[in-house]
Amino acid sequence: SGVERLGDMIAEARTIVPFTGAGISTECGIPDFRSPGGIWTRYRPIEFGEFVASQDARDESWRRRFAMEEVFAAAKPGRGHRALASLYRAGKVPAIITQNIDNLHQASGFAVEHVIELHGNTTYACCIGCGEAYQLDWVKRRFDEEGAAPNCTVCDEPVKTATISFGQMMPEDEMQRATELSQHCDLFIAIGSSLVVWPAAGFPMMAKNAGARLVVINREPTEQDDIADLVIRHDIGETLGPFVGN
Ligand code: OAD
Ligand code: ZN
Repeated sequence: SGVERLGDMIAEARTIVPFTGAGISTECGIPDFRSPGGIWTRYRPIEFGEFVASQDARDESWRRRFAMEEVFAAAKPGRGHRALASLYRAGKVPAIITQNIDNLHQASGFAVEHVIELHGNTTYACCIGCGEAYQLDWVKRRFDEEGAAPNCTVCDEPVKTATISFGQMMPEDEMQRATELSQHCDLFIAIGSSLVVWPAAGFPMMAKNAGARLVVINREPTEQDDIADLVIRHDIGETLGPFVGN
């Protein structure tokens, strides 16, 4: 079966790089983007340019974020996160590349410096001008007091979750580290991503082109199934559950 082959490939690999998308966190209660009920079936994305230009867009963006707070605060790592953390502790996984912003790989035991967050992190906020970091509680309090999304106390530019929006620059250091990891692994496992958003979706192909075996685990077809050595079109928790170790 697919899971047995995956087990063989994991056993044979020396350096495994996992690459995750929102599908690994759905069993933790966090919706993905493109499945029925996903975020982009409910909302239109607010692009970075709109966020910068419009107080209304910033207010709407923060209202959406506050509406999700209970979901993010309650979420615990799932079987997929725990299986990957087991492989990390076993020394097979040097670091993980993720498009996710939910902090669950860190919560599962990955050191902060070994989680390459291509799309940032939603558990804290940053000024888009000077980079000053803010806690969400501070933003919420200011929003409630003033009825509007607050600006930075240092430079008066807007404060935004520490995530990457459409139209926003990709983080340079993370892109560089993800490139190096993709080019220096012998097994690359793409998990729970539709692989439609670029440049993130370029990493599976980059790994494959550099000689790694490529595995795709996703319950729906993805954009890159045709170049994969193994496609497991099945639930992530069930597929990776057997790899949860100590
Ligand atoms: P998507 O919602 O595009 O894809 C998630 C995939 O996971 C879907 O194809 C689902 O079928 C699959 N899936 C969900 N739950 C699953 C489960 N339990 N078992 C197996 N498969 C499951 O999410 P991403 O690919 O992560 O970026 O989205 C990429 C980027 O688009 C995000 O990082 C975000 C979004 O816009 C930005 O906003 C910049
Ligand atoms: Zn600032």
